[in-house]
Amino acid sequence: MTHRGEPTQAYDFDEENSNTSANPTFDSVLGARLSRRGLLRGGVATAGTAVLGAFSLSACGGSDDPVVPAEKLLGFTAVGKSLADKLVIPAGYTASVVYALGDPLQAGVAGYKNDGTDTDYDKRAGDHHDGMEWFGLGADGKRNDSSVDRGLLGMNHEATTDEKLSSFFLHANGGTSTLPRPASEVDKELAIHGVSVVEMRKTAGKWAYVQDSAFNFRITTLTDIDLSGPARGNALMVTKYSTDGTRTRGTLNNCGTGKTPWGTLLTGEENWNGYFFRSATDDAARGNDKSVTALKRYGRPQGAASRHGWETGGADDKYLRWNNSKTGASADGSDDYRNEMNAQGFIVEIDPYNKARKAKKRTGLGRFAHESAAFGNAVAGQPLAVYMGDDARNEYIYKWVSAAAWSAADATAADALAVGDKYLDSGKLYVARFKADGTGEWVELNINNAQIKGYAGYAFADQADVCVNARLAADAVGATKMDRPEWCSVNPANGEIYYTLTNNSNRSVDPSGSSQLAPDAANPRAYTDMKGTSAQKGNPNGHIVRMKEGAAGSAATSFTWDVYAFGAQADADGSKVNLSSLTGDQDFSSPDGLAFSRATGILWVQTDDGAYTDVTNCMMLAALPGKVGDGAKKTLNYTKADGSTLAVDTYVGKAPTADTLKRFLVGPKDCEITGIAETPDGKALFVNIQHPGEGTKMADIGDPAKYTSQWPANAGYGAGKRPRSATIVITKNDGGRVGS
Ligand code: FEO
Ligand code: CA
Ligand code: CA
Ligand code: CA
Repeated sequence: MTHRGEPTQAYDFDEENSNTSANPTFDSVLGARLSRRGLLRGGVATAGTAVLGAFSLSACGGSDDPVVPAEKLLGFTAVGKSLADKLVIPAGYTASVVYALGDPLQAGVAGYKNDGTDTDYDKRAGDHHDGMEWFGLGADGKRNDSSVDRGLLGMNHEATTDEKLSSFFLHANGGTSTLPRPASEVDKELAIHGVSVVEMRKTAGKWAYVQDSAFNFRITTLTDIDLSGPARGNALMVTKYSTDGTRTRGTLNNCGTGKTPWGTLLTGEENWNGYFFRSATDDAARGNDKSVTALKRYGRPQGAASRHGWETGGADDKYLRWNNSKTGASADGSDDYRNEMNAQGFIVEIDPYNKARKAKKRTGLGRFAHESAAFGNAVAGQPLAVYMGDDARNEYIYKWVSAAAWSAADATAADALAVGDKYLDSGKLYVARFKADGTGEWVELNINNAQIKGYAGYAFADQADVCVNARLAADAVGATKMDRPEWCSVNPANGEIYYTLTNNSNRSVDPSGSSQLAPDAANPRAYTDMKGTSAQKGNPNGHIVRMKEGAAGSAATSFTWDVYAFGAQADADGSKVNLSSLTGDQDFSSPDGLAFSRATGILWVQTDDGAYTDVTNCMMLAALPGKVGDGAKKTLNYTKADGSTLAVDTYVGKAPTADTLKRFLVGPKDCEITGIAETPDGKALFVNIQHPGEGTKMADIGDPAKYTSQWPANAGYGAGKRPRSATIVITKNDGGRVGS
């Protein structure tokens, strides 16, 4: 099915393909094998050094913790694939819904009626729950990184289930699917997006959110947010709302998250471009200046329609700002919103413990379709690394390296956002080039790089321009085009970095047009998968690549890599498609959310799939992966249309076994599984079920029997029958850690 939250158009991008290395030798890197003990401890494997997990303050996996005896990780029985409209989890576990779309976040806000008449969405849970992080609270109501029964979830609300402009489950009759959109509908939709911070408590063994918690708050598309880092105050950021280019409104289409070592929430702005309108004559209105190039590169050619038509909600500035066209007469954009899109597409830092504190967009980390932001294991005296992906077809993998060296004292500083200023505003932004020999390099995106300074495709003015137009800078240096980089996570045991590459319809053995690419070493598959009678081409099932930094660690400019696992259905061709030999207990498609547990070391993998959904709903798997280089080089031989052979070398990680990869959960119909947060003891795992029933037709809004899902109402949660995105908490019935 169409995933409405994902890019649906081919993006314009630079055509150079950097991956031209002819050197086929694989520099096999076989360090000391990760110990089972290290995995069981999950946290800091290098005891006696200054290495600290990014979440070390909250991790219970510190080197002094006892290894839990008699606990076998992945000891549960794998669950089967499922098309049922319910959650499926292993025997011995319990899942409970704790926080769904529309749940009130303040005392006095009415319970959610779930019939399209609810309002006050800025005081309710948003829609399309996505990435989330846990922030512990002690009994004294202060930050406490070891608390296991009270904490805050900082959570993204990525989007809404929509059809023809309208978020139809939010409106009584399905809403208005023509322009102009009524203000009353737009106002709901503006408030349903963004972020929520919500208190969770365990009382008498049962988890629930706290409706009247003073900690609860929402950030919406209208919240005032500071711009920080290189682009703050830059000419590119000047708008009618902020004539000095230092502020903007709201955060939008928030997908993955991250948690800083100093206890703040990072949220990534993903498919924000689609919310903006551009007039059909805007290129000429702009004098065909370089902003036209930038807008096209970010998916907004002139004439682009907006996803919801919010710009038509009325004369108020909060509607007009969604028109990204030049409408004013000023030279600098201070009288219109021609630059409005330049303030979306960042990593945003939020202090979850202090709702009075304004959030900050960290512009140095680049502007693109952000997913998660994963810190490398923090080492005192060394810079911090933050890994990020740009989720669109043929986009790139990035790394931020702080200028400042990590000081452990900053982990508990009173002013957390000031610590963010220190590590996230000054540093270097890199993009990845993968080579066919199993190595790769990080190329700095710096205005003084001759390839960037002299780039024929776009005239960069300064470093702020490089950050705001990071895709163009990455084009200039020949970064490697990937199969839609989604989330990344760092293995706390060895620092290796895992990236989901969810799928890519633009891979072909015989590429044609400007957007198709031949398979390459790091994106080596191009094949046909049948979904019923429909042929899906490219890399429909996705894969998970992993990287090991060179000797310089977080600041390394070289790495080695392999593919941890290839998504595939178990009965697919083992020589070309099911390269990881997945069995029926393990097979998956379109990996998306991904995170290592700091408590157990388990790698949780979640899917957002449209390829295998004829057989199963989306799922979550538990993995105990090895390390880069534990498998072997493999050459894939493709026959091209002209009869010649295209040979693609890749590096396939050691195949998972029944003990190292198991399906743990399957969700209800038409959902995506996303978001992973846990208590530091690993005994409560929070997971989001996003957009169940997404395939429902707007025309069927009046007939619940025709909804493709009625979850979570059919699981006993809440009023009405309209499906709702929701957070669940999973616990083990014997009190053990989740995944054991
Ligand atoms: Fe919002 Fe790329 O997943
Ligand atoms: Ca299939
Ligand atoms: Ca996602
Ligand atoms: Ca997704």
